[in-house]
Amino acid sequence: MPVDVLLGLQWGDEGKGKIVDFITPHYDVVARFQGGPNAGHTLEFNGIKHVLHTIPSGIFRDGIINIVGNGVVIDPITLEKEIEALKKLNVDISKKLFISRKAHLIIPTHRLLDAASEALKGKGKIGSTLRGIGPTYMDKTGRNGLRVGDVESKDFLARYRNLCEKHCELLKHMNYPCNLDELEPDFFKSIDALRSLNLVDSEHLLNKYLSEGKKILAEGAQGSLLDIDFGSYPFVTSSNTVTAGACTGLGISPRHIGKVYGIFKAYCTRVGSGPFPTELNDSTGEQLRKAGNEFGSTTGRPRRTGWLDLPALNYAIMINGVTDLIMMKGDVLSGFETLEVCTHYSYRGKKIDYMPFDIVHEEALPVYEQLKGWNTNLTDIHLESEFPSELSQYISYIEEQTKVPVSLVSVGPDRTQTIERKMVLTFQGI
Ligand code: GDP
Ligand code: IMO
Ligand code: MG
Repeated sequence: MPVDVLLGLQWGDEGKGKIVDFITPHYDVVARFQGGPNAGHTLEFNGIKHVLHTIPSGIFRDGIINIVGNGVVIDPITLEKEIEALKKLNVDISKKLFISRKAHLIIPTHRLLDAASEALKGKGKIGSTLRGIGPTYMDKTGRNGLRVGDVESKDFLARYRNLCEKHCELLKHMNYPCNLDELEPDFFKSIDALRSLNLVDSEHLLNKYLSEGKKILAEGAQGSLLDIDFGSYPFVTSSNTVTAGACTGLGISPRHIGKVYGIFKAYCTRVGSGPFPTELNDSTGEQLRKAGNEFGSTTGRPRRTGWLDLPALNYAIMINGVTDLIMMKGDVLSGFETLEVCTHYSYRGKKIDYMPFDIVHEEALPVYEQLKGWNTNLTDIHLESEFPSELSQYISYIEEQTKVPVSLVSVGPDRTQTIERKMVLTFQGI
């Protein structure tokens, strides 16, 4: 059985959590492959609204194994809180949550370094979630990091102190206080909690499951346009958010990758700084933010909003090898007389249909095509045959422009507000 991958095609918050939860019953295993608690994946079902940061979004389904892979960076404090919140909802994680020993640990000074780095950047700041993600991946690639498996070793404390000292030295140079008195008690408590979890060599476990014919879903975090290599550098996150990241972040060979589900909003949003060609700084943008409740799941920051950007979407489809598109938040577009879709950019006086290298420094102005909007409230619709014709045209237009089928359409945050397009038949094939 192949490993299917589900990831975001824009700047994150496309609705990955909701769809992973929705399709999990088709799988035996769900595995997160990168990122850390900068992610906030929202699930809504049976009147419950829940946000996950580290734990895969298959955790609410019975009988499914959930794995946090080696490519993830883990803040044990956040993880402990997530587990406590799940316990309150009677979710027993003891037999279904497994953590890779090779995942790197976020320690309190990583968060301080993140804050110090952003403060030094001033106006050029990334708009980081300040969860310590960048500094932790820097320690990973710099070969200084601590890993989950290290908490099982006798000299963990000494190794922690050693790293902490290095960080405090750096913080001194950055003129940032290194005060750990308030942060360390919670950290050490969470390390004890971490020791009691199922710590595994997840690459072996996953490959064993593969050889047994189990179906695996790899869950991405962030979005393709935040990828460290292919996003709008330096306004990106610090991991490979694209399909290839599932191989390195889980220890799975590329030849095992099957379907690649690419999730996109019917429009665009972005939190944090960086280029956003179709951004709307006007009442239309405000309308999208209000209708879509576009406020960050992790930080609560208002999300920047804009129209759908096809050059950016096609770029993400190309890098990821997307086999199926999943369109989210269709309901948010109800009530607009006209919908604009960016087909090209005007860049240095030329019309181009790709994201230029120096998009961070030079403006790429959107060139739009207008499509007819609809007034129907979509949130109670359960069948594709009930779609207003303008919505069907919007979807067909996207399929024509991307050459990829849209197999699911989401029309509200709840698990039930998800419509399988029978014409595409993707999920019957799984
Ligand atoms: P993720 O990070 O990709 O999992 O996405 P987030 O959870 O950060 O953000 C998506 C937000 O949109 C959450 O608040 C979801 O509950 C909500 N949502 C997901 N799908 C839909 C949809 O189709 N319509 C509406 N109105 N909200 C949605
Ligand atoms: P999910 O998985 C949206 C953004 C931050 C910032 C940049 C770098 O919920 O889609 P970092 O904390 O990684 O140093 O921040 O990336 N960012 C996200 N934006 N959704 C996310 O995750 C994000 N994770 C990071 O806002 O611009
Ligand atoms: Mg999110």
